Amino acid sequence: MLQMCIIVFYLLQVYVSPLAKSLMLRVSLEVKAKPLASPQLHSFLATETLKLTLENRDNMEYYGRISMGTPPQLFRVIFDTGSANTWLPSSNCPESNIACQLHSRYKARKSKSHVPIGRNYSMAYGSGYVSGYLSQDTLRLADVVVPGVTFGETLTHYQPAFIPTTFDGIVGLGFGEIGWRNTTPFLELLCQQHLVEHCLFSVYLRRMPGELYGGEITFGGIDESRYLGDLHYVPLSRVGYWQFEMSSVAVGNRQVAEKIEVILDTGTSFILLPIDLFEELQRAIGAIIVNGSNVVSCQAENLQDVYFHVGEKKFTLSPADYVVKLETPSKTICIAGFMPIDESFWVLGDIFLTRVYSVFDADAKRVGFAEAVLEEN
Ligand SMILES: *[C@@H]1O[C@H](CO)[C@@H](O)[C@H](O)[C@H]1NC(C)=O
Ligand SMILES: *[C@@H]1O[C@H](CO)[C@@H](O)[C@H](O)[C@H]1NC(C)=O
Repeated sequence: MLQMCIIVFYLLQVYVSPLAKSLMLRVSLEVKAKPLASPQLHSFLATETLKLTLENRDNMEYYGRISMGTPPQLFRVIFDTGSANTWLPSSNCPESNIACQLHSRYKARKSKSHVPIGRNYSMAYGSGYVSGYLSQDTLRLADVVVPGVTFGETLTHYQPAFIPTTFDGIVGLGFGEIGWRNTTPFLELLCQQHLVEHCLFSVYLRRMPGELYGGEITFGGIDESRYLGDLHYVPLSRVGYWQFEMSSVAVGNRQVAEKIEVILDTGTSFILLPIDLFEELQRAIGAIIVNGSNVVSCQAENLQDVYFHVGEKKFTLSPADYVVKLETPSKTICIAGFMPIDESFWVLGDIFLTRVYSVFDADAKRVGFAEAVLEEN
């Protein structure tokens, strides 16, 4: 019997000490180790768009591969729309930092293009913090070379959050408004250097347990084969995060919230909502709350659909979309993919993004949504 810890990531950049503990569910169950198949990475460079394959670990982490330095050093990173800074574990981190030792570490001495910045940094996510110092080097993403990327070499990780990750570091895709001062965030750099024709990217995530292919992120373009119908755009309500106003959230005929501020976050696994609305939503969907956790019935017919209204367009999450199944040889435990946060906004993470194809348009300061194509395997 192994103790299995379900880590729900909350990689939204925050400014106050978060409820990190409430975002880790510990579940005891027997787990069989799954062999890790080697992934097929199909990344290619069209003239103006850059498509990068994402890998999926248990529908909790969607990460891609980049390299930093000359010659290239390889890393797995989350492309995180909930923050604007980029960091990697540093080869100078202390031995006591297990989270660092367990991951690929950037070796500045081995890179001919490394430039020291001489500034320290620290930053906090909903799941925990990282700190270290800033460096600059060349980042490679598929076939595209992005010189002059300022990133954090991380010396200290909040260990409970960053030990169990498959990803090594984070590339923030938020705006400069929430980035380190006097640095240019990755997306702005990509656009400034005209490496993509349009300053936007689109995200297609797949929710397929036990499969490594997790979707893709397309910089500079939109892949029309990945969604149905038309894209529905809404303006950003604030530039910094990818934040907009959602008209309402409803369960059946019952409206749970209206005119809510929402942040789209590829680095958050679940859907997070203000504490005062959380219990109402749980009751409305028919969740059975056992001992404060989110355990729900595995009989989908006992649970309700949740409707998200963006402008006039309704997106439906069915129980099959939001219930997270933890399979054990003896039984199946089901958890609803909603969690409370002590904030006034909602965070729509991977549970939402696997159902809704999303366009993050920095040129027009808007986000676009359409129903994602659900591919049967
Ligand atoms: C950066 O942090 C280290 C300790 O981790 C400290 O010794 C150093 O003075 C700091 N540098 C700056 C520029 O603040
Ligand atoms: C709730 O938690 C307590 C203590 O952790 C445990 O003894 C009890 O069995 C739990 N109840 C359920 C229904 O799981």
